[in-house]
Parts: sequence; structure tokens; C-alpha cells
Amino acid sequence: MKNKVVVNSSFKDIKNFINIPSLRKGVIEEAPNSPINANYAVNSTANFLHPSIQYLIVKSVVDISRDTKAYILGPDASLGTAKLAYFRPGQFISVTLEIGHAVVTRPYTLCSSPLRSLDDEYVILVKKDSNGFVSPFIHNTWVKGTKVKAAAPFGNLFYQPLRDSKNIVGLTDEYGISSFLSMAEAINDGTLDIDLTLFYSARKKNEAIMMDRLNELASANNKFRVIYVLSDERADKCERGFITKTLIEKYVSATRYSVFVNGSTPLYNRVTPQIAELKLEQKYIRYGLSGQIKNPASLPDFPKDAVGKTFLCKVIKDGETLGKIPCSAEETLLVALEREGIAVQSVCRSGECGFCRSKLTSGNVYIPKDVDSRRLADSSFGIIHPCCSYPMSNLTLIIN
Ligand code: FES
Repeated sequence: MKNKVVVNSSFKDIKNFINIPSLRKGVIEEAPNSPINANYAVNSTANFLHPSIQYLIVKSVVDISRDTKAYILGPDASLGTAKLAYFRPGQFISVTLEIGHAVVTRPYTLCSSPLRSLDDEYVILVKKDSNGFVSPFIHNTWVKGTKVKAAAPFGNLFYQPLRDSKNIVGLTDEYGISSFLSMAEAINDGTLDIDLTLFYSARKKNEAIMMDRLNELASANNKFRVIYVLSDERADKCERGFITKTLIEKYVSATRYSVFVNGSTPLYNRVTPQIAELKLEQKYIRYGLSGQIKNPASLPDFPKDAVGKTFLCKVIKDGETLGKIPCSAEETLLVALEREGIAVQSVCRSGECGFCRSKLTSGNVYIPKDVDSRRLADSSFGIIHPCCSYPMSNLTLIIN
């Protein structure tokens, strides 16, 4: 049977339409010539949630372990940050530091609850890597009153009701604990409604930082529990060995759950095959930032003939050549730029956020496939992320 379609219209519609331009012109002409209100509520909310920069100040420093300190940061109203931006448990802030003439950024995951940010406090944990460049600088120079420049909270490892299961299984070690501590704090204060079972891998019990606080949170709330997995010693109420599929299944009875992984590269390497055996749908497996690769030359597809070589990178910004800088094949272009004091926008340092987006106009780079998140169109037009690109020849780079 044919459907009958009735269209109601009249010449009046056309006539009214013809009148619209002159009507609009009249309204414009009658409008006052004073500047428009630039302070719309939606803009204020957007600026509060996503400030381009946050000026912070160190409120206090707490020793957590032999090599880890907690920094409690507040807004620095004297420089224009009246309130801290809100965040989701699992997100990080990228701090900018000037060390000598180098300008560098580092992402640090917030370990406090978002609720605490409403009381003007962020907490980050900084573990000192004695061979590192940034963490020793922070340990040695940040004291109460130090001014800190940071970007807005960022990162994708947070609970998304539309995508994730409410049952979250967290896999971590001391390098990724901040994100799960933030979630546990938020579960405890009622700002996050999930069930979190956390597997915390460490060599020895005394290396599992923040254990006391995690235990307190676990006994205060039955929506959070933590299982310590020690590889190098036996200890009361701890599992011995590594995080495996069998261990996860021993503690997790839910049939549907999301796995969140955040921690060091060795943790990622160990748990990835175990997660694969769980045969979960891909959307239920989430990874935190992979961070900078420590030894890229050890990756199987790294071009072996580039090992030990140094190339020259011509850097152009706003049409002006900033110089030719030396870059080792085993360091990212971002590190080389920062070392030369060339400021490049960067947030995640893992190829995810796109803030460091630059154009390679000549030369070749190596980009590990696991961290190459560029769109096909970007890669075909020479767009690269210097935070995860290694020079393989002399090159020319246009930065933002
Ligand atoms: S800093 Fe995020 S993609 Fe480079």
C-alpha cells in the first residue's frame, strides 16, 4: 500500500521568509553599539574546567618513602588562578619546569579525590629516579611556597559509565598507583560510584607505597579492595608472584568487568598477555599513559643501523628558523627540543593528546607502532608527534 504524504504549506511561508533579511537588519541596526557581554556563563564554566594554564603553589611536602614525596598544591591567586580545575579520578596534570635553559613538561597523576580540589588542593606523588632529569630537580627544589605552572587536568583513564563496566579491576605497581588511589578516595567520599578491585604488584611489601592509606580506604568502604602481589617475598595477607589471569579470577567473581592498567613498562609487558587470556571485549580493557620509552633501541622493529647515531634537526616556528639542533636516534625529538630550550606544547608525552603535533617537511623518523595514534590523514601529510618520534636522518620540523 502506498503511503500518502501531505505537505502543508502556503505562499505566506515564502513571503515571511523574504521578510527575514530586512527584519534581521532592523534588529541589528537597533542594537546598542556597546561591546557584547564576553562573560557568558558557559564560557566561565569552560574556562574553569579547561584553563589553558593553572598557576599553582606548593602548600606542603610530605615524605612518603625513601624516594617518593607527596606535593600538596593549591591555586596561586596572585598569578590569576583563583580556583583549581575539577578533574576525574585517574587524570593527570602536566607541569612545566625550567631546568637550566631547558624547558620541559612532565605529567603527574593526581592521587587525591576531585572533591578535595574544591577545597583548593591537588596532591601528586613524585618518585625520584636518580638517573632522571626532572624528578631529582623537583625533589631538590620544590618546597612550601614554590610556584608551579601546570596545564588543566587531562587523560583518559577514568570511569566512563557509557563505556566501562561499574566493576573495575585495576592492575598497577608503584608507578601507576596514583590513579587508583584517586579512585579509591573518590569511592570513599561518594564522588565515584564504582566497585574497584585493585591488584598492586611490588617486589617487596615495603616497596608498595601508600599501603597504609589504601588499607584504610579498603576497610572503610566495601566497594574498594586491594590485593598486594609480591614477587620477591612472602608476606601475611599478600599474594606471592605476579598478576596473572588465575589470580584475577580468584578474586573477581563478576562476569562483566573492565580492566584498567596503569604502571611501569615491565608491568604492561607482564599483564598484557594475561589480560588477553581473559578474553574480554576490547572496550573493557583500558591502559593509562605509556610514558616515554626508556630504551627504544630494544624494540624489535627499531632500525638497528641508527643505534648510536646523531642527526641534525632544523626547527622552524612561525616561518622563522630557530636553529639546527642535534638529536640522538635514541631520544625523542621532544626531548632534543626541550634540551635546547625550545618550548613545545606537550601534555601526555605518550603520543596520545596531540598537543605536540608538528609537521615533518623532510627526513625520516621512527615511531613505535604501539604509540602511533595519528589519524591516517595526519600521517600522510607528514604530521608527527615529537614526543614519540625518533630521528632516523637529518630532518626539518615545523613546530607550533
Ligand atoms: S605530548 Fe601528547 S601527543 Fe605529544
